[in-house]
Amino acid sequence: MKKISERIFYVGVNDDDKVLFEGLWPLPAGVSYNSYVVADEKVALIDTVESGFEEEFLENVREAAGGRALDYLVVNHMEPDHSSLITFILEEYPDLKILANAKTLPMLKGYHDVPEERVQIIAEGEAVSLGSCSLRFFMAPMVHWPETMVTWLEEENTLFAGDAFGTFGTVDENVVDEESTFGQYCDEMMRYYACIVGKYGKPVQTALQKLSGLDIKRICSTHGPVWETGIADVVALYDRMSRYEVERGVCIVYGSMYGNTAAAADALAMELEERGIPYAIHDLAGNNSGELGLSGALRDVFRYDTIVVGSPTYNNGIFPPVETFMKALQARLIKGRRFYAFGSYTWAGASVRQLNELASSMDFRLIGDGLSFPQAYTREKVDMASVADMLK
Ligand code: FEO
Repeated sequence: MKKISERIFYVGVNDDDKVLFEGLWPLPAGVSYNSYVVADEKVALIDTVESGFEEEFLENVREAAGGRALDYLVVNHMEPDHSSLITFILEEYPDLKILANAKTLPMLKGYHDVPEERVQIIAEGEAVSLGSCSLRFFMAPMVHWPETMVTWLEEENTLFAGDAFGTFGTVDENVVDEESTFGQYCDEMMRYYACIVGKYGKPVQTALQKLSGLDIKRICSTHGPVWETGIADVVALYDRMSRYEVERGVCIVYGSMYGNTAAAADALAMELEERGIPYAIHDLAGNNSGELGLSGALRDVFRYDTIVVGSPTYNNGIFPPVETFMKALQARLIKGRRFYAFGSYTWAGASVRQLNELASSMDFRLIGDGLSFPQAYTREKVDMASVADMLK
């Protein structure tokens, strides 16, 4: 438990054990599930945490509430990393009412069999008084699920933002950010956005527009630090990513069976390095331990304007992990990128052509026809220097 202000307490938990968030995304630095208590004449809990943390969570909540019973549980978002302990909290506090919007109700029933009489449905812009302060609710659909909303505590200029402005990575005991915090979390915030919210650029823009009139001095997200000092930075980053804005640079993404496509990818990286062109390189086939794989690749797709994809020909098509990456680009409605494909084959090349077709279907600008080479990679056979020249 950490006191954030006279009324606001952090009661979230760190998860260092989970290997894959949503069963998909690596967590090298863990993740936090943030929850908050607002203690006034009435006491509200804002979201819960993932299951497995019942004891720690309850201890935090009890301490923050000073032993008083909770009056409300605000459910901003129903994804189970925040809603798993709803039943547990309802049993612990039998007089507590859930504050939720109409879209949340079927999810509360479906996940937790919550009786309707325990839910107070709130509408867009409605406020619920806690005594000397009020919680006001704004819908933020698809940031990150259709029922998602945010909660505004005007008397504290504080936005309880749900997944918005969230990041991978556990939080330290201070919880609230300092000058250096944004820099420490920036890469993981980008990776979080790209993996979790990246499909929903337009709804994020709508939400940012809606919240732009608020004088926000504190952002309490459901993942990562509480933002005070770094508010301008985190809002600017989310704004830029949700507008699909990128900088000049190359994201090399490849999969390889026997190392030939990988060798071509490495050769391209070396050529880019020599030319001073910013780049990132990601192995999707998991050959290098510690690689972020697909999640790192998606992060850098949101960073750079050029995507270069390497795939051997496999079953007369694209190597499966690379195909998954291309589908992930489609799912995230990635647009406005330059594109180049390369890869090895043994008896018939198909991957480069099919990669180009997929890229064209997303309106990417093909920089060239691509480079499909037979059998082994050699520097003489595969001219990555010329490819690097095209990518300037
Ligand atoms: Fe952190 Fe969409 O849940």
